[in-house]
Order: sequence, then C-alpha cells, then structure tokens
Amino acid sequence: MAVPSGFDLTSERFFADPFPTLERLRTEAPVYFFEPLQCFLITAPADIEGLVKDSSFTARRATALLGGLGMLGEDELSRKTFDSLSRLAFFQDPPRHTQLRQLIMKGFSPSAVEWMRPRVVGLVQRAIEGARRDGEMDVVSAFSEAVALNTLAEMFVIPEVDRPQFLRWSTDLLKLAGGGVSSEEQKRAVKQSCCDMLDYMMRLVEERRKAPGEDVASRFIAAEDGDTELAGEAAMQCFQMVAAGFVTSVNQIANTVLALLNHPAELAKLREAPGLVRGAVEESLRFEPSVLSLSRMCKKDTEIRGARVSEGQFVFAMIAAANRDPGLFSEPDRFDITRQQSRHLTFGSGAHYCPGAPLIRMEVEESLRALLSLPRWELAEETLSYAGSNLQDRGPSSLRVRFPAA
Ligand code: HEM
Repeated sequence: MAVPSGFDLTSERFFADPFPTLERLRTEAPVYFFEPLQCFLITAPADIEGLVKDSSFTARRATALLGGLGMLGEDELSRKTFDSLSRLAFFQDPPRHTQLRQLIMKGFSPSAVEWMRPRVVGLVQRAIEGARRDGEMDVVSAFSEAVALNTLAEMFVIPEVDRPQFLRWSTDLLKLAGGGVSSEEQKRAVKQSCCDMLDYMMRLVEERRKAPGEDVASRFIAAEDGDTELAGEAAMQCFQMVAAGFVTSVNQIANTVLALLNHPAELAKLREAPGLVRGAVEESLRFEPSVLSLSRMCKKDTEIRGARVSEGQFVFAMIAAANRDPGLFSEPDRFDITRQQSRHLTFGSGAHYCPGAPLIRMEVEESLRALLSLPRWELAEETLSYAGSNLQDRGPSSLRVRFPAA
C-alpha cells in the first residue's frame, strides 16, 4: 500500500482540530515518516505502549532536542542550562531513572495531593471572584493561568511577591518546548530563565532544609535524605515539576471547559448531577488532552511494523490519536462524561507515566466545581486561536466565556 503523503501537522488549522488528521494517520499510516520534522509518528495504542518499553529506544534525548533548537553552546549559561535539563528524570533511562523516580513518588505522594486540595479550592474561588461580577472572562488568562501558576506555587509555598517571575520563567520554558526561540537574544533569555528558576529552587530547598514544612519541597528533601545517589536532587525535582506542570495544566483546564461548551447536553447533565464531575474530568483528559504526544529516540537500528527506524531518529507517539481508537473505546469520537472505562494514554505509559496525574485530576475537578457556580456559560469568541507549533502541547490561546453577571 502506498504511504499517504501531505499530512498537515504544524498549521494552526491542524491545532484547531487535530482529530480528523490523527484518525487518518491511525487508519491509513500507523507508522508515518513526517518529512518536515524528519521523525516517525505512531498512532496505534499497542505501538505506543510497545515504544515506551522497547530497549531500542531511549528517553536520553536532551542533547538531540536542545541541539535541534540551537540551545547548546560552550558559554557558561548554555552549559548550565544543558547540565540542569539533561539531569531531569524526563531525560533518563534506568537505572538513573528508577532512582529519581523513587524520589519523585515518595515526595509527590497521594498525601501531598490531598494536602494541596484545600489550597487549590481556595485559589480557584479567588480566580472567579472578578468574573462573577463582570459576567465574562477569558478562561485562559484570567483563570487557568492563575490556577496553574498558584497551584505550583502553593506546592512549594512560594511567596506571593515571587509568583510573577515564576509566570515569566514558566512561559519562557514553554518556548523551549514549543520551538518558539529563533533569535540568539530569545535563546539567551530562555536559558537565563531556566537557570534563574533553578537557582531560586536551590535557595528554596536550602531554606526548607533548615525549617521543613509539609510542602512538596520538604517532602522531596525528606525523600532524598541519607541516599547519596540522590543528594541535591530535591531542587531539580521542584524545578521539573514547574517545568512539566505549568502549560499542561493551563491547557487542560481550558480544553475541559471548551469540551463542555461544545457539548451542551453533557454540560447540562453535569449541572444536574455535579457528582459526575470526576467523569467529566476523565473524559476531557481522553477527548481533549493537553499533551498530544510523547517522544523517544532510537538508540539502535530497529523496525516498527516493518518500517526501518535508524539510530538517532525520533519517534513521536501520538497519544491523542490512541485515545480515539475504537479498539480502546466504544464510539471514541463521542464526548460522554458517563463513560465507564477510561484507559486513555494521556499521561503516557510505563516507567515515565506522569507523576502529576493525581494533582491535575484534582486541580481540574476543583476548577470545574468553581466554574460551574457561574450559570449559563456561552462562548464569546467565534474562532479560537491555537498557539501550538510543536507536536506536544495543545490548548486555545484565549477562551472568552460569557454568563449572566451576579
Ligand atoms: C493534563 C496535564 C498533564 C498531562 C497531559 C501530562 C502528560 C505527561 C506525559 C504524557 C508524560 C510522560 C512523558 C514520557 O513518557 O516521555 C508526563 C511526564 C511527566 N509529567 Fe506530566 N502531564 C500533565 C501534568 C503534569 C503536572 C501538573 C506535573 C507536575 C506538577 C507533571 C509532571 C510530570 C513529570 C515530572 C514527568 C516526567 C516523569 C518521568 O520522566 O518519569 N505533569 N506527563
């Protein structure tokens, strides 16, 4: 069978509605070489679960990814940025990954998420106060950015005055993932933000070492304590949580609200039976994931379904496509908040499975509870714009919603 060509995976049109293209890929070309990025795309659930377990592939791809963005260099700032990013669990294989993962799971435990819940409840309430009076809000800039940023800040008990700079650092780190760094000046600014945020986390960890609390930094310190292999990793994990948790949360809150706006019957069901909120969160994660894909690099020549993949080549596993596979879900294109079983791949699979999953589930759940106290939502924008330019993150740039003012 001839391999179809000409899939559009980078335009704004694709990001506005990627699902028809992802379905064509899954049904017509489940292993597809995407020329513009010189990488393979895979879309079938079994292939994705196979990729993350396959020892021919590695998560140690920091050099290739940062090199591809022109972020490597011999100067002090470039070296420090690379040294920090390449140490993250996200870029490790066993045995180092297994050690770091133990630290993450001990520090970022279910009890840490429950410790966070009342804080998140407080901050979602604060985030809708103004909107209630105004009768309109941009869910992205006025709500989900504030909720995502303050949730991460609460995790580490970061003082209010320091939070605006966290927003700037996190936005810069997003440019790194989104490929939005073209000029040398921009690259320098992103590296500076990365190093500044890490320095801040190092200072914070030193303070918590002297006066521990219940926050997640203190929990990471307790998890690292006494294990020489893990010395100094607590600060790196705090940094990684913010780097991995900001844009994903902003987009997931917005995608969930949008999915409900686009499916008024499901929104009505939820208003009538608020107990369905967990189902609504889970279905939104499946149906409109904020992360479209995960990636691995080939470390020794191999094949996927007969397609030759060479050392150094990247494979992007399109989790958003797998989430609409009829083999996994009946009527996968239907948004159904009462769906019983949900084995979606939104948080990945295997050893790198997202440790932030319980936090984001709770965060979106509490966000929805607060937002549902605003009556009769209406979308106040005709066309939504999507900033995404990478194969990874997806969410609208703004989402203006109207409702009767209180
Ligand atoms: C809806 C929101 C989120 C989605 C869809 C998501 C998705 C993912 C996926 C797919 C992976 C696996 C990557 C791979 O296998 O290469 C991952 C890893 C990770 N995520 Fe999330 N994530 C979300 C939110 C968060 C949050 C809020 C945090 C932290 C507070 C977080 C922290 C991490 C970390 C630290 C890793 C690396 C784990 C490792 O390499 O072992 N994520 N995430």
